[in-house]
Amino acid sequence: MSAARRRVAVLISGRGSNMAALIEAAADPAYPAEIALVLSNRAGAAGLAHAAARGVPTAVVESRAFKGDRAGFEAAMEAEIARHGAGIIALAGFMRVLTEGFVARWEGRMINVHPSLLPAFPGLDTHARAIAAGVRLHGCTVHMVTAGVDEGPILAQAAVPVLPEDTEASLAARVLAQEHRLYPAALAWLAAGCVTIRDGRATVAAAASAEGVLTNPLPFPPGLSKR
Ligand code: GAR
Repeated sequence: MSAARRRVAVLISGRGSNMAALIEAAADPAYPAEIALVLSNRAGAAGLAHAAARGVPTAVVESRAFKGDRAGFEAAMEAEIARHGAGIIALAGFMRVLTEGFVARWEGRMINVHPSLLPAFPGLDTHARAIAAGVRLHGCTVHMVTAGVDEGPILAQAAVPVLPEDTEASLAARVLAQEHRLYPAALAWLAAGCVTIRDGRATVAAAASAEGVLTNPLPFPPGLSKR
């Protein structure tokens, strides 16, 4: 087992399935991070019960209670994060925009998972927008968090095909399965010190590049000549 597992705070607002994937990965003593805290801005977030059931400390800082006092809200969150000794933040469906000050304090130590192949489809309703745009490949991105929403150096992406019969729900499920694979890998790279940022781009030491090509639809279907 690694002597120095990095302590991570996972910030959620709801379901917490990515949080669960991180907790699952960190259950392996060889994983370079441990989940020191799951922090939600909503007391009703379903992920809180899952984390507690897995023995992970949880806390709630209700954003609603701060009524526009973003600095106060963030100070309360940072107090919890500090109390649990976390030095990395993983946003996992955390649906509040963070201030520039907060982002600057956690620069290089905060990551996010987003359900699109950024820079395409930042923001909300990514799957419906991908279907409406008619893209044939969609996916998810893990990136460092910077001041711009859903911006920041990209650590990893996974692409999935968009199928003709897809609904928002079916496409979301296909992407989410990849989020659950990608996010634990990316957090491990950050925690293990494998990530370098230069000129707004991330490189990940020790990560093998994918080979091959994903084409959708497949070219040259039966009946069409290849020329
Ligand atoms: C995930 O699909 C995540 O990528 C997305 O919210 C969902 C949370 O699901 N995050 C964003 O849209 C952030 N811009 P989860 O609570 O089950 O992990």
